[in-house]
Formats: sequence, C-alpha cells, structure tokens
Amino acid sequence: MDSFLIRGGNRLKGRVEISGSKNSSLPIMAACLMAGGKTTLKGVPRLSDIDSMIKLLGALGCDVYRHDANTPALDDGPSLNGPLDISITDETKSVAAYDIVKTMRASICVLGPLLAKRGQAVVSMPGGCLIGDRPVDLHIRGLQKLGTEFRVEKGNIVGTVPGGRLKGRRLYLGGAQGPTVLGTINIMCAAALAEGETVIVGAACEPEVWDCATLLNKMGAKIKGFGTPELHVEGVDNLTGVEHRIIPDRIECGTFMIAAAITNGELELKNCNLDHLVAVVDRLDEVGVRISRENGTIFAASARRLNPVEMTTQPYPGFPTDLQAQLMALLALGDGISVITERIFPDRFLHVGELNRMGGRIRKDGATAIVQGVKELQGASVMASDLRASAALVLAGLVAKGTTQIDRVYHIDRGYEKIEQKLRALGADIVRVKEK
Ligand code: EPZ
Repeated sequence: MDSFLIRGGNRLKGRVEISGSKNSSLPIMAACLMAGGKTTLKGVPRLSDIDSMIKLLGALGCDVYRHDANTPALDDGPSLNGPLDISITDETKSVAAYDIVKTMRASICVLGPLLAKRGQAVVSMPGGCLIGDRPVDLHIRGLQKLGTEFRVEKGNIVGTVPGGRLKGRRLYLGGAQGPTVLGTINIMCAAALAEGETVIVGAACEPEVWDCATLLNKMGAKIKGFGTPELHVEGVDNLTGVEHRIIPDRIECGTFMIAAAITNGELELKNCNLDHLVAVVDRLDEVGVRISRENGTIFAASARRLNPVEMTTQPYPGFPTDLQAQLMALLALGDGISVITERIFPDRFLHVGELNRMGGRIRKDGATAIVQGVKELQGASVMASDLRASAALVLAGLVAKGTTQIDRVYHIDRGYEKIEQKLRALGADIVRVKEK
C-alpha cells in the first residue's frame, strides 16, 4: 500500500518514452495459448497486471521467460524491457482459478483461446469492478454461437466444446453500451481455430483488436476486416509461434499529453502513435493544448488559458473512457464550465469526490459530470480507487498548491510503468512512500 507524495507547481519539460500497451499485451499473451512453438513479444511493459497474466499462463501450462532489457539480438526498438518468450509445455491444464482472476478481470481473455485449442475451460467468473457493472455475457453468447456449452458452477464459468472443435458462423456481438473490446478479441481468437468462416458483426475497432489480429495472422490465421465493425475469420488447423512488437500504450500517451497541459509544460513523447489518438487530440486542441508531430516525434505543449469543453466517451475511434478522469483533472482548471458524459461505464466517477477534496468544483448528475473550472487546486490527502482515477489524482497533484498524498497507488502500478521515475525525469517533485 505505497503512497505518492507530490509537491505541485513544477512545469514538466523534456522527453518521455511511452511503454508498450497494457491493454494490447494482455489479450495477446492469452492468444499465445493457441500457438505451437515459441512466441516472442517485444515491448511488453512491466506492470502488476502483466505479472498476473504471466502467473495465469504458468498455471495453464505455459513457460514464460522475460529476457534481459539489453538482450541485443532480439531488440530493434525502444529498450525499456526485454522481450517475453511464451511456450506451451502442458496442454492438459484449462483452469483459470479465482485467486488469479480476482486480481485482474482481463483473465477472461484466456476463455476463447482455451476453448478453441483445448476444447474446455474453467474460468472464474470475474467479480465486481469499481468502475461499474462489467458483465461478460457477450463473451459467453459469442462463444456459445461457435458451439461451446456453458454452465456456471461455484462461481466458475465452465465451458466445453462437444465434438472438440468450434464451428464458424455469422454472429452479432454488439451490447447496450456498444461493442466489447475483450469480447471481440476472445471470439476472434476462438474463431481463428474454428471450422469454417466466422463473421463478427458489431466488432470493436480498437487498436488493441488490430494488434491481436496482426499477431494471429502472423501465426497463420486468416483474419480480415480488423479495425472495422465487421470481422471475417477463416478458421485454420494450426497456429505457430512468431515474433511480435506490441503497439505503444495510447492511454499512457494521452495521460502524458495531459500532464504537459496541466503543468503548462512542454513534452516530447517517444514511441507514441498519434493515429490512435485522433479524438483525444481533437478535444485537447479544443481546450487549447498544442499537439504536434515533427519527424516522428510528438510534442505536447499548453496554452496558459484552458478552454472549457464538452466531451462524451465513446467506443474507438471516439474519446476513450480510459482518459475521461485525466481530462476531468485538466478541465477542473478550465476557464468556465465543462460537461463530461461517460457512455461506456456510466458509473466511472470515483475520482470526482477526490478531485473535489483538492478544491475542484465538480458535480455528478447520472452519467454526466458538470465541471466548474477553478483558479487553482490545493494539495490534500486523497485515495486512489482505480487505475485511471489514480492517474487523474497524480495529474492534479502535479499542479496543486502544496503537497498531495495519494494512498493505494498499487492501482496505478497496474497500468503505468515506473510513472514516478518518468515524471521525476521531467521535473516533477514526486516520491513513492513505501508502506512500513
Ligand atoms: C477494455 O475492457 C479495457 N481493458 C478497459 O480498460 C477499457 O475501459 C474498455 O475496454 C473500454 O475501452 C482491457 O483491455 C484489459 P468492454 P473490456 O467489454 O474489454 C459492456 C483500463 O483502465 N459489456 O469493451 O472489458 C461493459 O460493461 C481498463 O485499462 C457488456 O455489457 O471493456 C461496458 O459497458 C478499464 N457485456 C461496455 O460493454 C460484455 O460481455 C464496453 O466494455 C462485455 C462488455
């Protein structure tokens, strides 16, 4: 239960390297359950969620090895971390137990690969989540359509594939809040080894879906239409291990863009794909944040005056829900009233109370937050509640008057690699206080 102590007021300046994507690494690591031989993944960040997935794959008969960061042969890009090798050593295992799944909802990503490759799976039903209601009914319904029989037993989802092989077909995967990212990837993985063609209508278009499809096609799969709402998957008999580089983390990148803006700083962002952030740059531009690209390097700098804006979170390519809290921290200092509507996780507002403890003037009304901009925020003791909410509190602490103490930063360690080191290197006054 470490905490962060942040003395606000320093402008951030300099270059920061964005890590590989957490939300792409997790489903891609799970997809390796379907490939013969060794898969080598480059750019996988060092995060507690990645450690949970490594532990889960180990329990499912995989040998997972992290090379040294300086292993020359394999690494031709950013060298924050050594490549990760994943090889299957035992295919008799198919139980994803509660003690691992409870730490990380993305464990559900092993369901499709296990059913497709091993014909059975027992995955603990993910429990409640602080950001709101997160059912997995679309995952289940999609896999049922491919021929899986399911029952729930003692809190576990138990799936079997009569006849041993899934069968491709046309299916609709849209939900009340729109497409599902991990649901699309789960069904796409399962369909890759199914008999015949699968067409997923209402598929998610996120870059993480694109990245996983690219890996699977390298392994020998036949997937088309990824990045669009209609995915076509021609099933194959086998997949083989390959080398693959994970895409940059667009949410970490967006967070650092906002860090530049909120501290009136100037940052150079390395290993950042701006094409994955069009809606984010659009909103930040409206606020008055200058994002530019020169020779492949992204620059983020802020205007003194922050304009108030309206923003509604949407499925990709719309504004991502995972940057909603961080944008709210910025707009808390806006020159007027901003309106934020959360369409993906309507209850994802645990950061509102904590930002108001720092002098924010934010009122929640259903799935909308009315943000009345204030001249300055005050340092205070606040509590991290979930991954992105804690990132918003760090951003607020960087600009607040005085010192902010953020407790329970284990939430941020799930999704931001070495964030306090990266921020300190840019001039922030932030320390991690280890729990006694
Ligand atoms: C992924 O979660 C990300 N997680 C989330 O990031 C992100 O917020 C979310 O996509 C939306 O962009 C990972 O990639 C590990 P969804 P996922 O299924 O796939 C509803 C972070 O901060 N739904 O696309 O689980 C659901 O309740 C995390 O890094 C159903 O109703 O999200 C939500 O309202 C948080 N039934 C909507 O769909 C289902 O079976 C979108 O959820 C599945 C989802």
